[in-house]
Amino acid sequence: MGWNSWNTFGCDINEQLIRDTADSMVSSGMARAGYRYVVIDDCWFDPQRAADGSLRAHPQRFPSGIKALADYIHGKGLKFGIYQVPTEKTCAQRGGAYPGATGSRGHEVRDARTFAEWGVDYLKYDWCSPEGTLADQIAAFTVMRDALRSTGRDIVYSINANSYHDEKNGAKYDWSAIADQWRTTEDIKPVWRTGNPNTYPMGVTDIIDVTEPLRDWAGPGHWNDPDMLEVGVYNVEGFPGLTDTEARAHFSMWAMLAAPMIAGNDLRAMPGEIRKILTNRGVLAVSQDRRGVAADRVRDDGDLEVWARPLAGGDVAVALFNRSERAARITARTGEVGLRPGPHLVTDLWTGRKSVSRGELSAEVPVHGVVLLRVRPLT
Ligand code: GLA
Repeated sequence: MGWNSWNTFGCDINEQLIRDTADSMVSSGMARAGYRYVVIDDCWFDPQRAADGSLRAHPQRFPSGIKALADYIHGKGLKFGIYQVPTEKTCAQRGGAYPGATGSRGHEVRDARTFAEWGVDYLKYDWCSPEGTLADQIAAFTVMRDALRSTGRDIVYSINANSYHDEKNGAKYDWSAIADQWRTTEDIKPVWRTGNPNTYPMGVTDIIDVTEPLRDWAGPGHWNDPDMLEVGVYNVEGFPGLTDTEARAHFSMWAMLAAPMIAGNDLRAMPGEIRKILTNRGVLAVSQDRRGVAADRVRDDGDLEVWARPLAGGDVAVALFNRSERAARITARTGEVGLRPGPHLVTDLWTGRKSVSRGELSAEVPVHGVVLLRVRPLT
């Protein structure tokens, strides 16, 4: 769980923003709810490496340097993450939004050492090229895995094999021997659906559909990453943003998928409703459940779906998911979500309402909404 600068700020980042975000992560209650990692994405670096080949911070945006920023974040009890690529150019460099060619290709050991010296706890490592076979990608991601390991520092390794890549290999290979988490698709934007199969840009439901078949790859210590959260992210690339109902559905489904929960909104100015979504304890307990099994789509009636995620201790999280344009009643049978017949204690994780059910699990679900239930067998 954490926060990353990309979804709201893109290349427009600086050390004051990141410090203020770390402050807000604590003061807003996000840290107490479990968010730990503050991650700076693309565009943090000087477009030129130093004379000895090492990376350095952008002199105007991060004048105090990255180590000072990491120290500040650690001082708040949080962890610090950074972005780099195994190719020649970062994605912003490739796309022309940022000058230079500072990727790690050929510099892996030096860059890993720099990160460890700075106190980096998390590396997002992002393939940014249309080229490269799956074997090339496996080799390049393995080189950095080994470089990170050789530093002796505990650094979460988060990879993406999809950016700009022709074949979107993130959805085709189980990366669990190489990385702690791996992106399954192209980039998310704050929109319910684009209809794109696995091409930029992706909406919430498009990503769910690509990630769902990969559920067996997820498990404790190795996770499918359906990209970062768009909860509270507005006005990006012509997309106005999700409604609160859609944001709750997005957050619920990422919890069901056992996804990394990386917020992407402006934490310094969070509407109350967005804060409530991001810090919902019951939903986060499902997300972080130690059994680490991702949910299964157990029923697909067109736009109305039932998902079930078995939890440690025998509870089951059940999502009643309405992708349609009309409110609808969705009913799950206990058998299909892996429960014996009742009685069950049912907690609606968004309203907090508890009830005892002796049969089916049923609810009226709003347009583009999810009713998320935690179901506990009483016998
Ligand atoms: C790619 C990644 C994004 C972000 C950008 C930065 O598109 O998928 O998450 O890191 O690069 O340029």
